[in-house]
Amino acid sequence: MDKLEIIGGRTLQGSVEVSGSKNASLPILASCILTNKVVLKNVPLVTDIQTMLNLLSSIGSKIKINHQNKTIKIDNSKKHKTVAKYQLVKTMRAGVLVLGPLLAKYGKATVSLPGGCSIGPRPIDLHISALKKMGAKIKIINGYIHATAKYGLKGAKINFKKISVGATENLIIAACMANGKTILTNCAREPEIKDLTNFLVKIGSKIRWINKRKVEIEGVKKLNNANYSIMFDRIEAGTLMIAAAATRGSLAIKKIQPRIINKEIDILKKMGVKIIEKKNKITVIGSKKLRGIKINTLPYPGFPTDLQAQIMVLMCRAIGNSKIQENIFENRFMHVAELNRMGADIKVKGKQATIIGNKKLSGAELMATDLRASASLVIAALASSEKSTINRIYHLDRGYEKMEKKLLKCGAHIRRVK
Ligand code: UD1
Repeated sequence: MDKLEIIGGRTLQGSVEVSGSKNASLPILASCILTNKVVLKNVPLVTDIQTMLNLLSSIGSKIKINHQNKTIKIDNSKKHKTVAKYQLVKTMRAGVLVLGPLLAKYGKATVSLPGGCSIGPRPIDLHISALKKMGAKIKIINGYIHATAKYGLKGAKINFKKISVGATENLIIAACMANGKTILTNCAREPEIKDLTNFLVKIGSKIRWINKRKVEIEGVKKLNNANYSIMFDRIEAGTLMIAAAATRGSLAIKKIQPRIINKEIDILKKMGVKIIEKKNKITVIGSKKLRGIKINTLPYPGFPTDLQAQIMVLMCRAIGNSKIQENIFENRFMHVAELNRMGADIKVKGKQATIIGNKKLSGAELMATDLRASASLVIAALASSEKSTINRIYHLDRGYEKMEKKLLKCGAHIRRVK
C-alpha cells in the first residue's frame, strides 16, 4: 500500500492549478446513462471516478479515457444492463446515483445498497421515498435495492425532509425522463448540483430553478449528445488554500471561480490570512498571527463538511481557541486522534470539537481514515517541522488528483513510497 513521506517546515510557494470537480463529475457521469454520446472535459482522474467508470462499463457503457487532456468519451448507444453490483457500489456511495437514471430510462434498476462508511451511517431513505413518490415500486432484498416503474416514472411534487446532495442529484436526473412535471423543494444547492443541471440542460433536459432550493423539471422522451467541461473542484481549492496558510506560504491557486468559495475565503480572512482575489485565481498569503474562530459545517452556502478536517489543522496554529460544530455527518472527527498524536490539543464532545490554539505540531507515523481526513494529515505534516509518514493514502487518491506532485511543485518536501 502506498504511503506519503513528508518532511514539514517548508512554505508553499508559486502557483498551482485546481483540477475538475470529483463531486460534479460523479453525478454527471451517472446521468450520461440517459443519453447516447457525451464527451466530458476536465474530469479529475482519481480513483472514485475510475470506480464510477468501472460501474458504467459493467452495465454496458463504452468508455474512452484520454489521460493527456483529461477527457472522457462515453457511448451509451447499447442498451444497458440494469444491475449495479455490490463490488462496484460498496467502495463509493455515489454508485447509488445510477439508480435514478436507470429507473427513468429502463423502468427498472437493481442497485446494491452502498453499505457502511467510516464517517457515519449514510442512509439513502430520502432517495428511496422520493422515487416512490414518482411511482417506483421499491423493495430491499439481500442488500440490493430492487426498483421498478413499469410504465415509467411520473412527475411528482417532492419536498425533501432533509437537505441531501445525493438525493437531490438522483431525483433531478430521474425527473429528466419522467412523464410530466416534477417539482423538488428543500433541495441541496451545492455548486456541483448547478453544474449537473447545466449539463442536463445542455443535453436537452427542461430544468428551471424557481428559487434557491426549488427546481422544476419537465420530463422529455429523448436527450441529445453533447460536449461539456466540468467545473473546478472547490474542495481541492479549499484544501490548497488551507495548506498554503498553514505553512505560512504564498500560493496562487488557479483555474477557480473565487465567488463559489466565498465562505471559505471569508473564514480564512477572519482568521488573519491574506487573500487576494482575481477573476479566476486567488493568492493566499499565510500569516504568523492567526486568530481562533468558530465554525459550523452546513449545506452550501455554509462552510463545507468536506473542509472541516483540513481547517482544524489551521486552528491548531492560531492564537486563541477555536470551535467546530459538525452538523452534516455523525462520525467525522476521526482525524482528531491522529492530530493529537502530532501534538495538537483537540477535545471532542458530541458534534463539537474544541481546538486549543498555538500548538506546534511534530512529525509522526500516521494513518489516513477517510478522504478528507487524509488531506488534513497531509496539511498537518507539511506544517510540522519534522518527518511524517502517512499510511493508507488510497483514501487520498479517491479524491485528489496528483496531490503530491502538485505540492512538490510548490516547494513541499513530499514523496510517495510504494
Ligand atoms: C455529498 C458529497 C460529500 C459531502 C456531502 C455533504 C458527493 C459524491 N459526495 O455526499 O463529499 O460530504 O455531500 O456535503 O458529492 N442523509 C439521509 N438520508 C439520505 C441521504 C442523506 O439521512 O437518503 C443524510 C446523510 O446521512 C448526511 C446528510 O444527509 O448526514 C447529508 O448527506 P448527503 O448530502 O446526501 O451527502 P452525499 O450526497 O452522500
